[in-house]
Amino acid sequence: EVDPRLQAIKAAIRVVPHFPKPGIMFNDITTLLLRPKVFKDAVEIFVDRYRDMNISAVAGVEARGFIFGTPLALALGAKFVPLRKPKKLPGEVISESYVLEYGTDSLEMHIGSVNRGERVIVIDDLVATGGTLCAAIKLLERVGADVIECACLIGLPKFKEDVSRETFTYKLVIQGC
Ligand code: PRP
Repeated sequence: EVDPRLQAIKAAIRVVPHFPKPGIMFNDITTLLLRPKVFKDAVEIFVDRYRDMNISAVAGVEARGFIFGTPLALALGAKFVPLRKPKKLPGEVISESYVLEYGTDSLEMHIGSVNRGERVIVIDDLVATGGTLCAAIKLLERVGADVIECACLIGLPKFKEDVSRETFTYKLVIQGC
């Protein structure tokens, strides 16, 4: 049975053709954020899923993973751990690079923010190739965390073709796929 909230969530996400470059269809979640009821529903779907999973940390991917990850962490009574683009975090970090369509980027995490054995979920707005989520999972596993699941609001069709299910045994894509 399909969750009735999903339709409104999907409708609230604006698709902008040719942004940021020709040929790219950009999924813009800022339009969803302008609709408090829909924004709340989106967060609540995640909260419902993870409430009883004994999650101690929510790791949000910069930048849009912060938007959905912080209310989720608060609702779960879990810590929020920002996974940031390079050179943003002031403390000692570990870093993981990933491949983009053009070039590479990396994510960094403060050492000591997540401890060995902690039950963590990773959250972002969107998964396309899965490269970003992969880097996030690697960072957390390097410190011995147990990555329970990755959660995204939007899964692009490309995700299905390019990323094996085994890579994301624990994935949740709410809309799109
Ligand atoms: C977007 C999106 C994900 C990532 C997904 O972020 O928010 O983090 O791309 O792509 P992938 O599955 O192919 O790795 P972006 O790189 O645009 O960064 P930003 O949120 O900081 O703008």
